[in-house]
Amino acid sequence: MSTAYLNGTFLPLEQAQVSVMDRGFLFGDGIYEVIPVYNRKLFRLPHHLKRLKNSLDGVRIGNPLTDAEWSELLIELVGRNAGDDQAVYLQVTRGVAARRDHAFPVDTRPTVFAMSTPAPAVSTRASEAGVKAITLPDIRWQQCDIKAITLLPNVLMRQQAIDAATAEAILIKNGYAIEGAASNLFIVLNGDLVTPPNGPALLPGITRDLVLELAAANGIPFREADIPELELEQAEEIWLTSSTREISPVTHLNDRLIGNGQPGALWRRMIRLYQDYKEALRRGEAS
Ligand code: PDD
Repeated sequence: MSTAYLNGTFLPLEQAQVSVMDRGFLFGDGIYEVIPVYNRKLFRLPHHLKRLKNSLDGVRIGNPLTDAEWSELLIELVGRNAGDDQAVYLQVTRGVAARRDHAFPVDTRPTVFAMSTPAPAVSTRASEAGVKAITLPDIRWQQCDIKAITLLPNVLMRQQAIDAATAEAILIKNGYAIEGAASNLFIVLNGDLVTPPNGPALLPGITRDLVLELAAANGIPFREADIPELELEQAEEIWLTSSTREISPVTHLNDRLIGNGQPGALWRRMIRLYQDYKEALRRGEAS
């Protein structure tokens, strides 16, 4: 049975309950993080805590814990749960108010919840098959850099992708490819790795940043630039990155082959670098 954390207490997940008056439940008024755990070590925790703080600031919820307290809580949560590899989910809502009112309640304590589930290893071999994706109009709001729990557009778009027998939707806004419904986007164009620049249109992914760091450290040419829809269609390779999927090669877009319909050469190189980084983290030699 997995152990969760709720407002200062560790307890069995099944027993963790919040009030129906919680603003997360009534308004989707909260933010979240997903943090991978490899060999019981939290992956890039300082980066996740920084993004958590940015999201809290973005929705004007005071950070209920210091970074040291977050760190202690999450390490304890991982320790109390089974599996060397896990995925930690945490969320902070504006809390429970006496009545339903859009305006912020006064003197409300944020609700802090965290859980961790065993993470099946994302095998390179499974990724070798590649995934299919479709493009869809981006129907989200204008502050997608905030990791808000209000995910209805993402849920609807991901489901549309699944209904089309694909793994992910790549979102198009004003003629540009932005990111996936729950992942960041990379393409390889004329041998260069390209990803859209961070900004309000997309989530600043932790996996994305690591891929860019690995590219820089290994002499792989890359740029952060807008990706017109036409370039997406012409790309030699398309990758989707996230904490849970790592680096997923897209081999079919809207039923058309990308490259020769197999994961590309640069993906092969990058996934190796990424796995090496994870191995170093497992050994305690990286963060
Ligand atoms: N989602 N863009 C969106 C819209 C996302 O929801 C996510 C991750 C990413 C990738 O970010 P990161 O590399 O930090 O995981 C990009 C998580 C995994 C989720 O919602 O479950």
